[in-house]
Amino acid sequence: MAKVVVLGSGVVGAATGHGFGHYGHDVTLVDIDPVRVERLRSQGHDATTTLDLTGAGAFVFVSLPTPSTRDSGYNLSQLTSGLETLGKALGSAMERHTVVVRSTVPPHTTDQIVIPTLERTSGRTAGDDFLVAYAPEFLREASAKEDAVSPWMTVLASRSPEALSELTALFKPFGGELKTFDDPVVAEVIKIAHNAFNATKISFWNEMWRLCQQLAVDAGQVAGTVARSSEGSTNPAYGIRGGSPYAGACLSKDMDGLLGLARSLGLDLPLIASAQLENRIIAEGSRRD
Ligand SMILES: NC(=O)c1ccc[n+]([C@@H]2O[C@H](COP(=O)([O-])OP(=O)(O)OC[C@H]3O[C@@H](n4cnc5c(N)ncnc54)[C@H](O)[C@@H]3O)[C@@H](O)[C@H]2O)c1
Repeated sequence: MAKVVVLGSGVVGAATGHGFGHYGHDVTLVDIDPVRVERLRSQGHDATTTLDLTGAGAFVFVSLPTPSTRDSGYNLSQLTSGLETLGKALGSAMERHTVVVRSTVPPHTTDQIVIPTLERTSGRTAGDDFLVAYAPEFLREASAKEDAVSPWMTVLASRSPEALSELTALFKPFGGELKTFDDPVVAEVIKIAHNAFNATKISFWNEMWRLCQQLAVDAGQVAGTVARSSEGSTNPAYGIRGGSPYAGACLSKDMDGLLGLARSLGLDLPLIASAQLENRIIAEGSRRD
């Protein structure tokens, strides 16, 4: 049984606590919000507003908010402030702890913000006095607890081989695919690409749904069939190589055909138009190479 401390016990943190509790670990949920802590206690959790790392070595999961901003990408002030508190607690620790950031963060945050902040505020050295890893969270808000118990994939990234091996052992009983990386930046970009892919797919089908409405066609019949007929839907390796334009003439021709049809119907299809633009940029780039 491991000691697990969760810093930031909202949607992700509470689900993380539930997951580790399910597998028999000793979990403490920490949150700055006393009302949330009371609610978590009333649900049977060990919850507190005070982070204390003076006891046994723990896995400290950081699930603090990282809201997005349109001009600078992400607002990391709550993450940084929580990390400062965590660093101070690490400074008084008797045993070595492993910090695992689960918040969604921009690339290079682990190396350029998490580790320097923890080292500065603890007076200790990452990789030596404490270990640091980044493990993006893929759970869905609507099924957060179930996803935390049975993740379909866990991504673990750390420059410390020891942290990777500890975390691999910790997550093994959860099942699902386990992927490890020795560079946290890879995992930071994985999480961003993961959400961008899902968002793009949803928007694609919204565009097709609007087209179907305009044509008085059953969008469910179209989507339900294409979800199985298109290689892009059924083959995970299709289209993911990067750096090459569409192969063959059909995709480009039929995307232009669709855009022309939409124009004639007075319909705006910005995602299809952007996909054509992206293909043109890649095609021009590969002609120059
Ligand atoms: N919600 C999701 O479905 C989901 C899924 C995957 C990843 N994420 C990412 O996980 C992170 C957390 O998201 P969330 O939805 O759980 O947020 P949330 O707002 O539900 O929870 C964050 C919690 O952190 C607490 N907090 C803020 N500052 C604190 C501090 N200094 N010390 C202790 N607690 C503090 C808040 O009171 C809040 O309870 C974000 O980066 C988010 O992008 C969220």
